[in-house]
Amino acid sequence: MKAYEKLLLENKAWAKEKSEDDPDFFERLVHVQSPEFLWIGCSDSRVPANEITGTNPGEIFVHRNIANMVVHTDLNLLSVLQYAVEVLKVKHIIVCGHYGCGGVKAAFGHHSLGIINKWLRNIKDVYRFHREEIDAIDTEEHKVNRMVELNVQEQVMNLAKTSIIQHAWKHDQRPHLHGWVYDLHDGIIKPVFEMEAGDHIDPIYEFDNL
Ligand code: CO
Repeated sequence: MKAYEKLLLENKAWAKEKSEDDPDFFERLVHVQSPEFLWIGCSDSRVPANEITGTNPGEIFVHRNIANMVVHTDLNLLSVLQYAVEVLKVKHIIVCGHYGCGGVKAAFGHHSLGIINKWLRNIKDVYRFHREEIDAIDTEEHKVNRMVELNVQEQVMNLAKTSIIQHAWKHDQRPHLHGWVYDLHDGIIKPVFEMEAGDHIDPIYEFDNL
């Protein structure tokens, strides 16, 4: 059997099991999705949003990219964000990084990697904001892991800088923003940062006409 054929076979088994456990499972989800959460995670294959949070189809709206970045010119991210906040009306947005992130590691490097240089630039900027703290850390591994935490924090703050979040905070007192880091060694998620409606953001990023 070819590797991809196993996926299709597993899919049939999964669908059968779901229907047997709960005969209305698929029919219920056909007509509506009303997830409470938007997940912005890393594309890394070892950090699957649903599996590590024990959630089912229909429970989490998911966006993933290299190193779970919130880049304010990324049309893909912004479309997902606007839809999740304004149409699905999610109550929580989770930015979830993970220790040992390859994207964060690569951002410490100086080797040109092509197109991805432009993406990694955003992570290099996070390093520049926190250079003093990172440079004082002893090992390469610890530097990367602290950068992962600080990157998650910066990406949560990037969400708060968008007009989409500021508008929802002002008129609807949601969503609550969470910065989490997943540990590949034991599968445990550590909350590292959070923001909610009314929290302080640097005034230069505040819009006054939303
Ligand atoms: Co990663």
